[in-house]
This record gives sequence, structure tokens and C-alpha cells, in this order.
Amino acid sequence: MRKVYSLQIQYPEQTREFNSRLTKTGRRSLSHSISQSSTDSNSSGDSDAENLEDEVSPRDRLQINFKGNKDFCVKNIKLADYGRQEIELAEDEMTALMALRKSAQGEKPLAGAKIVGCTHVTAQTAVLLETLMVLGAQCRWAACNIYSTQDEVAAALAEQDFPVFAWKGESEDDFWSCIDHCVNVEGWEPNMILDDGGDMTHWIYKKYPHLFKKVKGIVEESITGIHRLHHLSKAGKLCVPAINVNDSVTKQKFDNLYCCRESILDSLKRTADVMFGGKQVAICGYGEVGKGCSAALKAMGSVVYVTEIDPICALQACMDGLRLAKLGDVVSQVDIVITCTGNKNVVLREHMDLMKNGCVVCNMGRSNTEIDVTSLRTPELAWQHVRAQVDHIIWPDGKRVVLLAEGRVLNLSSSTVPIYVLSITATTQALALIELFNAPEGRYKQDVYLLPKKLDEYVASLHLQTFDAHLTELTDDQAKYMGLNKYGPFKPSFYRY
Ligand SMILES: NC(=O)c1ccc[n+]([C@@H]2O[C@H](COP(=O)([O-])OP(=O)(O)OC[C@H]3O[C@@H](n4cnc5c(N)ncnc54)[C@H](O)[C@@H]3O)[C@@H](O)[C@H]2O)c1
Repeated sequence: MRKVYSLQIQYPEQTREFNSRLTKTGRRSLSHSISQSSTDSNSSGDSDAENLEDEVSPRDRLQINFKGNKDFCVKNIKLADYGRQEIELAEDEMTALMALRKSAQGEKPLAGAKIVGCTHVTAQTAVLLETLMVLGAQCRWAACNIYSTQDEVAAALAEQDFPVFAWKGESEDDFWSCIDHCVNVEGWEPNMILDDGGDMTHWIYKKYPHLFKKVKGIVEESITGIHRLHHLSKAGKLCVPAINVNDSVTKQKFDNLYCCRESILDSLKRTADVMFGGKQVAICGYGEVGKGCSAALKAMGSVVYVTEIDPICALQACMDGLRLAKLGDVVSQVDIVITCTGNKNVVLREHMDLMKNGCVVCNMGRSNTEIDVTSLRTPELAWQHVRAQVDHIIWPDGKRVVLLAEGRVLNLSSSTVPIYVLSITATTQALALIELFNAPEGRYKQDVYLLPKKLDEYVASLHLQTFDAHLTELTDDQAKYMGLNKYGPFKPSFYRY
């Protein structure tokens, strides 16, 4: 029997370890360099890479790394050095994962784990994968998105003998073939799955259901993947436990509130290039995303109106000094409209007909459902594509409405996700894998679980250390008085942050 691993949570020592890294400079340019590389992955000037791009699919080429290993499929192995630089830059900002590596030096909580994964193949993922290996796991990886792969990073992983099957712009056939190559390999059977979107999980269900005999659990990252798992669970077909990392508190706060608080300004500047001071802004929805966007714009001197359907969130908006209104009542006077509801048809053609000349309209909420863009595709309205992610919609009287990202999620289309936010996600994934892999028999049934609160707190504590922050420790007496364990969890699962 393998011993049950328990995480050693040592806040004060780790704080000191992290503080020594704080003097590193260039975080902003680092973020920029990474994001640039994700859209311009062959910008290293390697002419071989450029030539290869037009050639046959990587699938049909013999690929071999420096050590003679062929168990991978990437765009161009020669990009490995460039990819290694990107990974090292990402490591600087992913301090929590680096701390996990250090803390595992004696112990290998993932020894014996064989993880098959399907996530974005980027520098940040590479830091996660190399961490999982330091923690004792063997991994095989495919991309969950054919556009986000950083080819140079995939090359760097392949050069390190990491079985990765991914390149930017895979065809649909290639996509499934890459997933298949990860799973269908002689003499190696996965016992853990890390998925983002559920494609890997469902491929295994469809093609290799026998593998589930050995699989101890699934860690799923995306809302879509979690819906698919719940679906399986309801149908009684989920045969292993799964952890939903998307809804862990730390990740939610960073993805929805803090990330949007920063990226709304960046996205609006990059696209519409507007001045925020004194502008009137209508924000539809005052949940996490709406609160982040409102806080940023209010801080920049904008006059913020909020629309809400929920009286609790509406009251919060009032208490935060914002003006609660119906969109129809303010839409003719505002300069910017931002949807953050997760709902559909929030901004309709009748609202856009009332907007004033130059009004900017964009979506920070759900995919492309919030603004009724279809209603703008009619003969009487002209579309003028002004620049990337910016279209002017011109009414017969000459009025222009500025539509950003054609109503898709603005910051995902035109801004970058800071590595720090991705670090939260990656750390959460690593801890969920450790938890599921080491859980004693019976702790988890064939169902979908949230990350245990204590681990959620641990993710936060690892990141807290970046700020030279000093957490207060409960005394024994206080812990007893509060009925808490001195080292957490500090809040019940129903606590609302
Ligand atoms: N842009 C990003 O980077 C990003 C990040 C995280 C989440 N999201 C997406 O943003 C959306 C909102 O996320 P959240 O965490 O803020 O959700 P949330 O549930 O906390 O907030 C949404 C709010 O919108 C309100 N609402 C719903 N319909 C409305 C309507 N017709 N008019 C006015 N208000 C309405 C709800 O009452 C709720 O308070 C989701 O679709 C989520 O997937 C985007």
C-alpha cells in the first residue's frame, strides 16, 4: 500500500523563501514578451521554422530530438532553445509552483502518477508540467486549443523528452490524433487525467473505456468540462471522482474579479483608445466581473451606472456609490456599455438604436451571447472594420457605434492574461492532482467535487508570499474559541468571500 501523502503547509518558512525573489525586475515586460510569443510564436527569426510552416503536417514528418527520442509531435523541434527561455521567464512569475517543487525535495507526492493531460500548451503549462514531474509524476500532453499552442514551448518540452503532441493551428483531425497519441501508447496507461474542456476525458470514455479501471481521478479546469462531467454523473456514467478546479475560490476571484479589474482598462485602451475620466459608463451585471470592471472605471474617474436583476447585487452597487438604472433609461447618454452578466440578449438592437454617436459597446461576460450582434447585420447599417477588434457600425443618419471584438469576450480577444493569474490556476491544478491521487479509499466517490477549502487556502497562501505579506497565526486559545484547526480551513464551505 502506498503511503497517504499529506501536504505540509508551512506558511512562515515559505514566506522567507519567496521574499528573496521579490527584487526581480521586468515583470511587465516579461508579461508582454510571453503574450507576444503566444501570438507570434515563430518570431525568433528561425528561418527553418518559417519554411517548415508551409510544409506537410508535423504528423507526417519524422521527428526526433537531440537524444534520439521520437515520442512527441511538435511544429519544429529547433525552436527548443527559444521555448526554454520563455519557460524560464514564466517560472519567475509562477513562484507558487516553484515553491511546491522545493517543498517536495524529500517527498514525491505524485510518485507513481501517470497523468494524461489536455490543456493549453504554453510556457505557463510547461512550468506546471515540469513541476508535476519534479513531484514524481510521468505525464503525456496534448493541446486543448489549436490556436493557443506556443510552438517553441512544445519544442522545448519535446527536447526534454516530454511526450507532447501539439502545434498551433492543428486541423480537427490532427487535434484528435494528438489526443489519441497521448493515451494510446504501448506499455503506458494513465491513472490521472487533467483536462480543460473535457475532450481528453470523453475521448477515453469513447475509445478506451477500459483505462478507467486504473484512473484514480479527473481534474477539470473549464466550465464546459465541468458541465460534461456533471452530465456523466447525472447519467450514472461517471466512474471515477473528479475535482472541479474552476470553482475554487482563489481561482474565481482572480479570473473574474481581479483579472477583469485590470484587463477592462487595458482592453478598452488597446481597442477604442478612449479616455476614461468623466466618461459615463453603463455596466450590465454587478457580479464578480461587473464589480471588477466598475471598480477600475470608477477609479479612473468615470461615472458608472450599473444594471442588475438581483436586488442583493443591486444593493451592493448602491452601497459602493454607483447608480443603479435600467439600461433603456441611460443608454442614450452613456459613452461606454459593458456587459458582464453571463446572460443572453442584454444589449438589444433597440438599445443600440438609442446610443449616441461614438458610444463604445463591448462584452466582458459570456462568449458572444450578451450583445445582439446579429441584429446589426442588416442592410440599412454599414460595417466599417477600423482595426483589429474594432468595427464601426454606421446608422443611416451617420451615427457610429463602436463595437469591440464583434461582441465576443473583450479581454480574451484583445488583452493578455497575466502570468500571475495563470499561476493561481496551475497551482490549483497541481494541488487537486496531488489530493485525488493520494486520497485514501472512500474519501471521494464517483462524483464531481470542489477543491477542499484547506487546499484553496494553501493556493492563496503560496501566492500571498509574493507580496511580503505577513499572515497572523491563530493562537491555540483563539483556535479553540473559534472551533477551528489552527492551520485551517478557516471558513466553512458556504462562506461567501
Ligand atoms: N472576461 C473575463 O475574463 C471573464 C472572467 C471570468 C468570467 N467571465 C464571464 O463573465 C460572466 C459573469 O461572471 P461573474 O463571475 O461576474 O458572474 P456572476 O453571476 O457573479 O455575475 C453576473 C451578474 O449578472 C446579473 N445579471 C444576469 N442577467 C442580467 C441582466 N439581464 N441584466 C443585468 N444583470 C444581469 C446577475 O444577477 C449577476 O449578479 C460569466 O459568463 C463568466 O463566464 C468572464
